[in-house]
Amino acid sequence: MRMYDIIMKKRNGGELSQDEIRFFIEGYTKGEIPDYQVSALMMAVYFRGMTEQETATLTLAMADSGDRLDLSDISGIKVDKHSTGGVGDKTSLALGPMVAACGIPVAKMSGRGLGHTGGTIDKLESFPGFTTSISRKKFIENVNKNGICIMGQTADLAPADKKLYALRDVTATVDNMSLIASSIMSKKLAAGADAIVLDVKTGSGAFMKEEADARALAEEMVKIGKNAGRNTVAVISDMDQPLGYAVGNALEVKEAIDTLKGHGPADFVELCLALGSQMLLCGGRARSAQEAEEMLRGVIADGSALKKFAEFVEAQGGNAAHVSDPESLPKAGIIRPLPAPISGYVNKIVCDQVGICSLILGGGRETKESDIDLAVGLVLCKKVGDFVREGEALAMIHGNDESRIQEAERRYLQACTILDTPPEKRAMIRAVISG
Ligand code: URA
Repeated sequence: MRMYDIIMKKRNGGELSQDEIRFFIEGYTKGEIPDYQVSALMMAVYFRGMTEQETATLTLAMADSGDRLDLSDISGIKVDKHSTGGVGDKTSLALGPMVAACGIPVAKMSGRGLGHTGGTIDKLESFPGFTTSISRKKFIENVNKNGICIMGQTADLAPADKKLYALRDVTATVDNMSLIASSIMSKKLAAGADAIVLDVKTGSGAFMKEEADARALAEEMVKIGKNAGRNTVAVISDMDQPLGYAVGNALEVKEAIDTLKGHGPADFVELCLALGSQMLLCGGRARSAQEAEEMLRGVIADGSALKKFAEFVEAQGGNAAHVSDPESLPKAGIIRPLPAPISGYVNKIVCDQVGICSLILGGGRETKESDIDLAVGLVLCKKVGDFVREGEALAMIHGNDESRIQEAERRYLQACTILDTPPEKRAMIRAVISG
């Protein structure tokens, strides 16, 4: 079998066989097939798509490309959560400790930034010393001791996804349904949780811009999960403007801490409660969504979710003092308001463009090897539907480089539409899909 023929078959719109998919996944994982051939195949998949059968085969081939985690040493129903990616999506940072404080063991594998979206691991690395490169033994020990641990994708868990994820990030091949479904589900299957709650985003900041596409992606992932014997639920949520106010690694950590202190932005809190409820229901901790919501609100009100977060940060090499004093987290050298050019209602914020503003400021990778600036990003002052007066700040820009700041400012103004009338409100939670 030759990689060249596989690329050509897909380029011409053919359906790849199980042997062909397994051949390229195994060859790429072992380093026998180079990045440039796999990039070409990813681009062919991007344009030609994959059938449901190809997607399911790709998912299992990727899940089998390394070991699978055995979580049987952790008692209770282990529930994992994964987002398809968004802008300002710091959900895992707040939700993990909230759910853990309700008694569900959170044994989670997270990723880095992808395309215009941020990644949980990059955000957590805002805590100096924090590491997600931990052994399986330590991972299980931490979950048993603290109720929560987040690890990065190790070289031996779905390594094919690890390589493809980094390659897709820099080759404009992220936003394809089959590639997203196989990427997410391969690592969720390998990571061993009993139940999986998926946050499938839709809107201008999501990879699936149209709700119908998000629904199709959700249904495909739920089917893959169920076929693999995992209780899988997908929540379709809005990502047509940034989630909360903060976009950028350390800035999002600060907003997550505020949320655990009870001062979270309304849209972000609503999403955490919706996803958290599904996690508590899957984990058998609550009998109804209402009971679950009350439990989740309770662990914020009594401080136990914040305490859990501080313990989690300490257990993974960070210093809990930063949780008590988030202002001590990395801070940009230049912080300045971006004034509104006219008065009116913020009618639209093209959300992926806001993610790109954060990347331009230095918050994301341009190549696989790039370092990122944890301090930079944006904090919105006005969200969709808010009234702004000419000259009033639309957002605060946090940067360390004047020319990057100017480019981000230009882009942000282009992304933002201000009109005389307010827009219609979009619902945060669109649907829950459980197959
Ligand atoms: N999250 C992932 O893990 N993979 C994707 O392809 C997209 C979002």
